[in-house]
Amino acid sequence: MESKIKKIGVLTSGGDAPGMNAAIRAVVRAARARGIEVVGVRRGYAGLIAGDIIPMYVRDVSNILQAGGTALFSARSKEFCTEEGMQKAIDVCQENGIEGLVVIGGDGSFRGAGDLSARGIPCVGVPATIDNDISSTDYTIGFDTCINCVVDMVDRIRDTMRSHERCSVVEVMGRHAGYVALHAGIATGATFVMVPEVPCSVVDVIKKIEEGRRFGKTNFIVLVAEGVGHAEELSRYIQDTTGIVTRATVLGHVQRGGSPTSRDRVLASRFGNLAVELLAIGKSNRVVGVKNDALVDYDLHEALAMKREFPMDLYVMNDIISI
Ligand code: F6P
Repeated sequence: MESKIKKIGVLTSGGDAPGMNAAIRAVVRAARARGIEVVGVRRGYAGLIAGDIIPMYVRDVSNILQAGGTALFSARSKEFCTEEGMQKAIDVCQENGIEGLVVIGGDGSFRGAGDLSARGIPCVGVPATIDNDISSTDYTIGFDTCINCVVDMVDRIRDTMRSHERCSVVEVMGRHAGYVALHAGIATGATFVMVPEVPCSVVDVIKKIEEGRRFGKTNFIVLVAEGVGHAEELSRYIQDTTGIVTRATVLGHVQRGGSPTSRDRVLASRFGNLAVELLAIGKSNRVVGVKNDALVDYDLHEALAMKREFPMDLYVMNDIISI
């Protein structure tokens, strides 16, 4: 079927995530295969306002599939949130003949995509964030790579904690979401997982450590999402209260880099291809996602309003089996 649009742009916005490059590659190749011209917008919405636009052909995205980060760079733009900035972005799209935009990023980036769509620039959002905190999809691009990285790091920490019979508090990313802490916690057998979604106190952490001790446990891992506590502070408290030598590690941005896992590469490729399909049939203001492994797409505003229950069953399960 002939495409309803002739030229699209693709940008990455907000915190980067491994797999963004795989999505860019899929967008460029899927569009070119349909005879649609593609340009890359560098540095997210800031680059759109500045007209930082480059043509993208199929060979321009060779050998980026396996690379972490984003070849188009990413940024957070305050100017884009102003009326003036938004108008500049629209003008740049019109001047460059951009009839549709694929926005690869998190929910902050999707709000901008919604505003652009409402003003006549059709947008499709592709969820990419290590936080996995977008309710309209089961998984976001980058999450799988991130938790595998955390698991690798915590396994290493566990080796030395076991040798010295110590406790380790590991702070992971997640300012507002605990999916990284929860999944990595289950996969590493963490004694306690602190997440923003589940109220708990340091007293609960101590109780769990003491309980483990009574069952003969000699080394402990506590995972804390950055949104609820800090490793240094918590370590000191655990050591002072229990007498167990406790060390703190803040994993930081190591979690956001690295070559994407096969799972993230496949997900990103599917999302990128679907985003182009939607624009090609004239759809606008959509966000793509995956539910029970099937691709889905929703109205952007409906998607942003969706609420997903935190998987308490997993949280409780971990609490039971991490004794
Ligand atoms: O990418 C998501 C995220 O990693 C959050 O977990 C974290 O709070 C935030 O981005 C930090 O981003 P930056 O260091 O780029 O401000």
